Amino acid sequence: MHIRTAAMDDVSKIVQLYKEVARIKGGIARLENEITEEYVENFVKKSIADGLILVAIHPEDPERFIGEMHAYKPGIHVFKHLLSDLTIAVHPEFQGRKIGRTLFTIFLEEIALNRTDIGKVELITREGNEKAIKFYQALGFKIEGRMEMRIKTPAGLYEADIPMGWQNPNFEF
Ligand SMILES: CC(C)(COP(=O)(O)OP(=O)(O)OC[C@H]1O[C@@H](n2cnc3c(N)ncnc32)[C@H](O)[C@@H]1OP(=O)(O)O)[C@@H](O)C(=O)NCCC(=O)NCCS
Repeated sequence: MHIRTAAMDDVSKIVQLYKEVARIKGGIARLENEITEEYVENFVKKSIADGLILVAIHPEDPERFIGEMHAYKPGIHVFKHLLSDLTIAVHPEFQGRKIGRTLFTIFLEEIALNRTDIGKVELITREGNEKAIKFYQALGFKIEGRMEMRIKTPAGLYEADIPMGWQNPNFEF
């Protein structure tokens, strides 16, 4: 599997991937019709400028992505040491094949080794996504609270969102 950082001309391939991931409920928060060119362009731009964005390329078709992961600095001084708005998405046909784990491992290694300006990486995941919570804990993320009634499920019920954080062992204060 080939993983590299993304560039602005990858936007349409990321839109395609996110639409396919969003088709399956219970994963990423956005619905398929909320995956717009503008939404993707915005996070790609911010992640390239002040964050990190990785893409995993399809083994047989370099024009398709099978995974993507990004996070970026929120943009104001008091949050200068944070990467936030983290999202990871693996194509449904490729889930469960260690692509998510590989993306996360490379992402956190890159920060620990080369981004000593980053003290913390934040993410938020829905309470019902237990597999994802366990996965993030195994990578070193800690649960930092509970945001009640934050998510409205497709069934019209409400569930909590769980904020989690990972601290960079090599952060230079
Ligand atoms: C969650 C997700 C990124 C995991 O990536 P993946 O490549 O499927 O997972 P991996 O094969 O690397 O497995 C890593 C861990 O993720 C968990 N996992 C696997 N499939 C999963 C799924 N469909 N949903 C949630 N967690 C999953 C497993 O517990 C696994 O742990 P293990 O290695 O100890 O068995 C991926 O399934 C996905 O994109 N899901 C839909 C979107 C989503 O939920 N994004 C996260 C929102 S916070």
